[in-house]
Amino acid sequence: MQPTPETGTWKDYGRVGIYLRPYRYRLAFVVLVSLFATALGLAQPYFSKLLIDRALLRKDWVWLCWVAGFMFGSAILGFLLNILASYQYVRISAAMLFDMRLELFRHLESMSPRFFAKWRLGDLVSRLNNDIGEVQRVSADSLLSILSNVVFLFGSAGLMWWLSPRLFLLSVLFVPLSLWTFQRYQKRLMSQTQTLRERSADLGSFFVETLIGTRLVATSNALDHETERFRFRNNAFVETLLRLQLTSFLMGAMPGSILTASSAAVFLYGGWLIFEDRITIGTLVAFMAYHARLLSPIQTLMGLSSSLAAARVSLKRIFEILDTPPEIAEKPGALPLDRIASGLRFHNVCLRHDREPVLDGVSFEVPVGAFCVILGSSGAGKSTIANLMVRLLDVDSGRVTVDGIDVRDLRLADLRREVVLIDQDPYLLNATIAENVAYPNPKAGRLDIERAGSEAGLDELIARLPHGYDTKAGERGLALSAGERQRIALARGLLRKPSVLILDEPTSALDPATEAVVVHHLRKVLDGTTVVIITHRPALAEIASHVITVTAGKTATVTVA
Ligand SMILES: Nc1ncnc2c1ncn2[C@@H]1O[C@H](COP(=O)(O)OP(=O)(O)OP(=O)(O)O)[C@@H](O)[C@H]1O
Ligand SMILES: [Mg+2]
Repeated sequence: MQPTPETGTWKDYGRVGIYLRPYRYRLAFVVLVSLFATALGLAQPYFSKLLIDRALLRKDWVWLCWVAGFMFGSAILGFLLNILASYQYVRISAAMLFDMRLELFRHLESMSPRFFAKWRLGDLVSRLNNDIGEVQRVSADSLLSILSNVVFLFGSAGLMWWLSPRLFLLSVLFVPLSLWTFQRYQKRLMSQTQTLRERSADLGSFFVETLIGTRLVATSNALDHETERFRFRNNAFVETLLRLQLTSFLMGAMPGSILTASSAAVFLYGGWLIFEDRITIGTLVAFMAYHARLLSPIQTLMGLSSSLAAARVSLKRIFEILDTPPEIAEKPGALPLDRIASGLRFHNVCLRHDREPVLDGVSFEVPVGAFCVILGSSGAGKSTIANLMVRLLDVDSGRVTVDGIDVRDLRLADLRREVVLIDQDPYLLNATIAENVAYPNPKAGRLDIERAGSEAGLDELIARLPHGYDTKAGERGLALSAGERQRIALARGLLRKPSVLILDEPTSALDPATEAVVVHHLRKVLDGTTVVIITHRPALAEIASHVITVTAGKTATVTVA
């Protein structure tokens, strides 16, 4: 899915306020400290006026010592307060950004398989990593700095006016011109930032896709082709980066140069005012100090404004995900579910993705204690049925009920504790076999893990492995064979002892002999458990008490053996 071309709105900053709320008191403290430090900074040039006019020109030792002491003391105090404020501020912003990243992470984890079929993984990772990182960087660097710079700017302007209104008017004459040039670059910068983010997500997606697909790339002799695709994407990225760099440079340099010109004008006019005895030397020195400092907050604020623009783009990309509601959500006041007593039922269930319906009026029942087999040709909708049973998908119409209660009214965690699905293509973590088996039950004891492994037909494999259950499964379980991965996933399901165990093609990768061992064990250990097995294998169909056939006509017929 491609992000929409707009670059976010100021409203997105408003939404950040929700994340700031829990930290408002600590933030208020930081702001106060920072304001105080800024006020101390503002006093510095005024001290130099006193130094010249009161102490130096009158050769007054006492004044000299006092002013020098004050200058030193206030500079040190301001410095310490600034450190305190920045340190606290970074802590708060890090905590806040953690909350935001956590929400995004939890949100993504709750999305349905449909969502992940649509979105590019690399793009999602880039939003979770880079975009939140960008918001964190900008908020850590910028917000406090904006505040102190704004205060500094207005404070300096006020003091300059007080020192000499005419000089002040001259010195700000150029400000509107530089703001206007700045404004012109701002828009361009925003859209270039957006493009850069997209290009970077493009590169990320490319890597994720081709690294997961290395086997396909190798066996298709596609490395040269992929290298070309990489080069093309990289060039597009670099080109946008260079354009963005140029815009940022112009944006920083142009208004700065215009403002520097005003310094020269102030010197000329200020010098003339001194010659005419209209102001003192101390006044011009203090004024020039304020004026020099006036440039820096204006320039900083302009720079910050471009950082903020970049962060706005990132915020938009973050909120775009957060605003995509999860298809599967628990209702408020959802009902608890204990062991399943009567069974699982499909009532006239219809489901379509974005094409023709996959399931069109499917009804059947899996009574408790049944050993039920679902048969059907490839693409008939068998895995879809399994997904509906554990609410990885929800029906478009009709109902799926457990003990007569619609699954959408049940607590999700309860449903997924009592109805467990072992996937057709199970996912293993890069951890030991024992950790993989115990993933849903982290507190399981070693004996239970080994028993479940044994029931899933793992004994022979474990005996062969040098570290037994402590052998690593490799990234996504790739250090094991497909049949071995299936049996580990089966052990994972058996360890959970659910009311209903759904196995999606659990033996598709097993040889007939290993399959016979597994089936033998399954019959024994699953006696009393409700089992739903999706399979193309006759060996499993033979031992079933109920056979559900999903036909191309999208209806299910149930045969009781
Ligand atoms: N996210 C999706 N978007 C669009 N169509 C989908 C999506 N997921 C599945 N389908 C389609 O739904 C249909 C049923 O898929 P399902 O995985 O349930 O089939 P199956 O019966 O399990 O097949 P197999 O025996 O090959 O595993 C297929 O035609 C598939 O192309
Ligand atoms: Mg399937």
